[in-house]
Amino acid sequence: MSIALIILAAGHGSRMKSDKPKVLHRVASAPLLWHTMRRAESLDVAKTVVVVGHEGEQVSEAAKAFDPDCEIVWQKEQNGTGHAVQQAQAALDGFEGDAVVLYGDTPFVAPETLERMLAARADGNDIVVLGFKAANPGGYGRLVMESGILTEIVEAKDASPEQLAIDFCNSGVICAPAPLLFSLLDQVGNDNASGEVYLTDIIGIANGEGLKCTAITCDEAETMGVNTRADLAMAEANFQKATRAAMLENGVTMTAPETVFFAFDTVVGRDTIIGPNVFFGPGVTVENNVHIRVFCHFEGCHISSGAIVGPFARLRPGTELGGDVKVGNFVEIKNAIVDQGAKVNHLSYVGDAHVGEGSNIGAGTIFCNYDGVNKHHTEVGKHVFVGSNSALVAPVTLGDEAFVTTGAVVTDDVPAGDMVFARVRQVTKKGLGKRFIERLRAAKK
Ligand code: UD1
Ligand code: MG
Repeated sequence: MSIALIILAAGHGSRMKSDKPKVLHRVASAPLLWHTMRRAESLDVAKTVVVVGHEGEQVSEAAKAFDPDCEIVWQKEQNGTGHAVQQAQAALDGFEGDAVVLYGDTPFVAPETLERMLAARADGNDIVVLGFKAANPGGYGRLVMESGILTEIVEAKDASPEQLAIDFCNSGVICAPAPLLFSLLDQVGNDNASGEVYLTDIIGIANGEGLKCTAITCDEAETMGVNTRADLAMAEANFQKATRAAMLENGVTMTAPETVFFAFDTVVGRDTIIGPNVFFGPGVTVENNVHIRVFCHFEGCHISSGAIVGPFARLRPGTELGGDVKVGNFVEIKNAIVDQGAKVNHLSYVGDAHVGEGSNIGAGTIFCNYDGVNKHHTEVGKHVFVGSNSALVAPVTLGDEAFVTTGAVVTDDVPAGDMVFARVRQVTKKGLGKRFIERLRAAKK
């Protein structure tokens, strides 16, 4: 059965002490909001509604960047979680399936947990809440259970001492048929300690109407909310730990997994070896059997099978490495396709370029792609040899099997098979080296 997601992301997040809305702070190179939006990826989601408020323009832009089909609704004043959900009612008009409410700042609920909630719905429960045993129940809403039935959720601020002693807490995730959710919310007031419309009040009302409510349990780590910078750092650590474990499980070798950092969307093939201290930014895919040596930094790139990269290589967005390519130490590549078997082994910058199959880019070669205003393309054919310390001034084309001698500054195209010299001819003066030093020494005395 298809579901609708209602993602609450209107809150302020003042404890972050930030000018940026909380849900746009990043974990694994992606806004928290994207992590939440991805929670239900494995489910049949008919519609995603994101409720925005505080800095809502920025939040909706981020939501649309992740899922252009999501619907944005505004909650102009933050009058509570129930009020926030009510803002999604018009967007879900006519939708008869289940609505799942998620928080933008609680992004790590496992997809399997959501599946268990839907299974509990299919089992005949009208409303299913996700709960957890809290180590420190503190300010969480308490789930009041009576023989498997969830009779009430009591906010900490409104709870009696006996209720405060309950450690089974509300994660905030709720699943119910959308029409039922909205009709129950119509009956919720704001007569409570916060003067807010609590989403949690629907449980007591539903019980009064003879509906069946229950709660299922998940690990506390899944329901972790991000409220402070310390929480954000903890969320990052948890994400990395889980991703490293998944990579190892899927056949990736890492000599020091605790020093490798992945993005939310990193893909690495089996039998790839990753050395210590490697950082993956967003948009990186690595095929099988790649060797990544120590201290590399990758973003927006694709590395094909058999490639050897690093140590100390930086691959920036738009980099495509073909099979068996070698990229060595202190090499930076940006917006460039490097074909099968080509080598860029030492101290080079390759930007806005295509390097053909089997070509060799010598040590210290710079692709001069920028004239101060515009970027220009460099085309290097197949089996080209570029000598060390050359500068290729774009736009420029080197034909197949061209040969660039060391230290050349290449400003004009080089036809296929030609050799180019673009440097001052060497002059050697007989005995002058020794005589010159002696003269300097004598002058110093
Ligand atoms: C809420 C629950 C509490 C639960 C806790 C779990 C209610 C009344 N309380 O409390 O039972 O244990 O979460 O973390 O539901 N939001 C809006 N608009 C609003 C208010 C909130 O979009 O008007 C969003 C926030 O941005 C946040 C989420 O809803 O993502 C939760 O709001 P928050 O104020 O943190 O609720 P809690 O008081 O923590
Ligand atoms: Mg909260």
